[in-house]
Amino acid sequence: MTTGDLLNGRRVVVSGAAHPAGIGRAIAETFARHGARVVCLDVAAPDGVADLAEGLDYAVCDVTSEADCRTAIAAAAERLGGLDTLVNNAGIVGAIPLADLREEDFLRMIDVNLSGTYRLTRAALPFLEKAGGAAVVNMASMSASRGGGLLGGSHYAASKGGMISFTKALARELGPRGIRVNAVAPGIVSTPMTNGRFPPGQEEALRAAIPLGRFATPEDVAGAALYLASGLSAYCTGIVLEVNGGYHIH
Ligand SMILES: NC(=O)c1ccc[n+]([C@@H]2O[C@H](COP(=O)([O-])OP(=O)(O)OC[C@H]3O[C@@H](n4cnc5c(N)ncnc54)[C@H](O)[C@@H]3O)[C@@H](O)[C@H]2O)c1
Repeated sequence: MTTGDLLNGRRVVVSGAAHPAGIGRAIAETFARHGARVVCLDVAAPDGVADLAEGLDYAVCDVTSEADCRTAIAAAAERLGGLDTLVNNAGIVGAIPLADLREEDFLRMIDVNLSGTYRLTRAALPFLEKAGGAAVVNMASMSASRGGGLLGGSHYAASKGGMISFTKALARELGPRGIRVNAVAPGIVSTPMTNGRFPPGQEEALRAAIPLGRFATPEDVAGAALYLASGLSAYCTGIVLEVNGGYHIH
């Protein structure tokens, strides 16, 4: 658990931050401990708003709704007095073989993970540009470069691969406008998305195949997001920071 002043005065929105054991909440709390003020967005209500750490706020937002995204970003910017950092972390996962993959499942995956990132970033753009020195951090996945194969199927991998391409294209487009855009690609992280989801015995086999010998914690991923949001990465844009314990070195 790090504390410091890497994000002093920064005004941040993190999507998908309702669950206290999820990556989004770890990012929000890490950022707050580094001096940021953070609005957490999620389609789900947090387990207890009262439990939110100091410096954190919460608002409901379904990233599949453009109206929700616009309203939530405008309200967050109003509350924070502007917006200079956006973390697109909201996401869903699924592993369905192609033969059973219905069109609605495929489209839903893209709608939440990829189009949701587009909607929030589009809504945030005027505020980020006005702020100057802004940063966007997108939560991709090892699945994009590994070809799925764990808890994520082809539709999940495609959504995360799309996020990486979107990140790179936006980095090129928005760099001249004072906005850096980067991605984090976590490997296996112990969160509500993964806990108890592997068949018996598979967890041990997976840990044995990871050079660092364990799954990531949400805080491991939050550290990478902190780097990409802060001035430490001032000359990085369009990069994908892999956080997988060496499981996928390519
Ligand atoms: N856990 C892992 O191993 C892992 C690995 C690689 C990438 N990721 C990515 O990290 C991110 C966070 O995942 P997590 O593991 O903390 O799981 P999580 O399920 O705890 O977090 C995802 C959050 O997104 C929210 N969400 C889902 N649909 C939404 C919508 N339509 N609008 C707004 N919010 C919505 C959920 O309510 C949830 O709070 C996801 O994008 C996931 O794909 C996770």
